[in-house]
Amino acid sequence: MAMAEISLEIEDLHAQVDGNVILNGVSLAVPGGEVHALMGPNGSGKSTLANVLLGNPAYEITKGRIRFQGEDITGLSPGDRAARGLFLGFQHPEEIPGVSVFSFLRQAMAIRKGIDNFSVLEVRLKIMEWTKRLGMDNRFTERYLNEGFSGGERKRNEILQMALLEPAFAILDETDSGLDIDALKAVGDGIAEVRKDRADLGILVITHYQRMLDYLAPDVVHVLVDGRVVATGGPELAKQVERDGFDAFRSETPVGT
Ligand SMILES: Nc1ncnc2c1ncn2[C@@H]1O[C@H](COP(=O)(O)OP(=O)(O)OP(=O)(O)O)[C@@H](O)[C@H]1O
Ligand SMILES: [Mg+2]
Repeated sequence: MAMAEISLEIEDLHAQVDGNVILNGVSLAVPGGEVHALMGPNGSGKSTLANVLLGNPAYEITKGRIRFQGEDITGLSPGDRAARGLFLGFQHPEEIPGVSVFSFLRQAMAIRKGIDNFSVLEVRLKIMEWTKRLGMDNRFTERYLNEGFSGGERKRNEILQMALLEPAFAILDETDSGLDIDALKAVGDGIAEVRKDRADLGILVITHYQRMLDYLAPDVVHVLVDGRVVATGGPELAKQVERDGFDAFRSETPVGT
């Protein structure tokens, strides 16, 4: 069997925010169809990497590049990246007052597909199909986006967005934060459900927990410490992190912390 083509490739990425250097040469590559997990201690730069990948202008890339499906996207706007099929689920998704989940999804689908002639009916049918497949209550989509959503609802909503937008690549940041065990399983199962239809979908999941990885069964695990990937391996690497913590991966353990 031929090796899957690299979908997302990050090369020696250095980035800073407000003059603080956060990423110190991140390199990793995710082939289409694979799930890679990115683990790392608090403050190691995981969310920064997610933001940089999506082109958040608050983060300045000082060196390195990002390639997506063979194209250098380092300088592209977030909108242009999204249009190419890059999807980011945020750690703390924003509330958007007065916008229902339904109308948000309809708009987002139109942007992703480059057309805005989805009929309300088509969108409704697609949403109904996916809320069912993801085990969600369909009435959920009439609510305002993220307003009063529980942590679990926010995350399920994020997976629903991923299912409907049919991205080529998804970056999911901390999908397990604040989730109870049932919600964690629902999100894990939801990602698996989306993958059933999408053999070529690449996913980079940022997580702290082995438990999430039990559901996702990542192909590859990367460990990020101090803005650098310090280890890459199979699922056993996540088990090692769970057992030994991140200190084992630090080149110098800070004294007195
Ligand atoms: N806008 C900003 N201004 C200043 N410092 C920032 C900014 N954004 C991030 N940082 C700093 O960058 C470092 C990395 O933060 P980041 O959110 O990427 O960590 P993380 O690995 O996602 O952590 P966590 O596991 O807690 O989510 C932190 O020290 C953080 O304070
Ligand atoms: Mg984070």
